[in-house]
Amino acid sequence: MQGKRIFVLKANKARTDHKFHLKGLPSTGGRMDIVCRCISRALLYHDEPRKDTVFYAVLLGPPTPPKIIRVDGSKVESLEADEISIAKMIREALKSCRSSVEEEVLAGISVSRTSFQDLVEFFAEKGYHLIYLHERGKDIRKMTFSAKSVHVFVLGDHIGLNDSDELLLERLGAVKASVGPRSLLGSHCIAIVHNELDRYFVSTRSSSL
Ligand SMILES: C[S@@+](CC[C@H](N)C(=O)[O-])C[C@H]1O[C@@H](n2cnc3c(N)ncnc32)[C@H](O)[C@@H]1O
Repeated sequence: MQGKRIFVLKANKARTDHKFHLKGLPSTGGRMDIVCRCISRALLYHDEPRKDTVFYAVLLGPPTPPKIIRVDGSKVESLEADEISIAKMIREALKSCRSSVEEEVLAGISVSRTSFQDLVEFFAEKGYHLIYLHERGKDIRKMTFSAKSVHVFVLGDHIGLNDSDELLLERLGAVKASVGPRSLLGSHCIAIVHNELDRYFVSTRSSSL
C-alpha cells in the first residue's frame, strides 16, 4: 500500500460520553458533527473504506476528557457516509468503553484516554512525518511524500489549535502545510489532502515505470 495516512482532529468541545442527541450534534455533542464529517471524508471512498487511512479524534469536551476515538479504515466493517450513522457509531463506542486502557470496542474502532500531546509525541517517536494543516503553511503541492513513510496530518475543529499545541508540534518537527490560501472546513481539508496525495502517488509511480 502506498502512502499510509493518519489524520488527527483536535475536537475541543466534543463530548466524551454517549449522552448527546443525534438531532443535536453541534449543540449537545459539542460539535460532534465536525468529528462525523471528518471521519466520513477521511475513511471513505464513495462506496468503501479507505484501507490506507487511520483517523483519530481527540475529544476534549465534558464529562471526562481526554478521550480518543481511533477508526482504522483497514479493519472497520461497515461505515456509512452520513453524519447520523457515524454519530451512532461514536455513541456506541463511547458507551461500550469501560476501561482506561485502549480498548477495541467495535471492529476497527477503539477508544482510549490518551492526550493530544501523548498521541503526537508517540507518532514523532515512531518516526512518522508530522504535518500540521494550516492555511499559512507551505503549499502542499510543493511538498514531497514518500510512499514508504507514514504521514500524520493534524488539524483543528472550528476553534483550531492553541499556542501550546502549535509549540508542541513545532518542537516535534512538524511541517506546516497549506491546501489553499483560505481557511477551509477541516473535513474539506481532509478530502483535499487525500486527493493531493492520491494524485502525487499516481504521478510518481507512473514516472518511475
Ligand atoms: C475551520 S478551520 C479552523 C478555524 C479556526 N478558527 C482557526 O483559526 O484555526 C479547521 C482546521 O482546518 C485546517 N485548515 C483550514 N484551512 C486550511 C488550509 N487552507 N490549509 C490547510 N489547513 C487548513 C486547520 O487545521 C484548521 O484548524
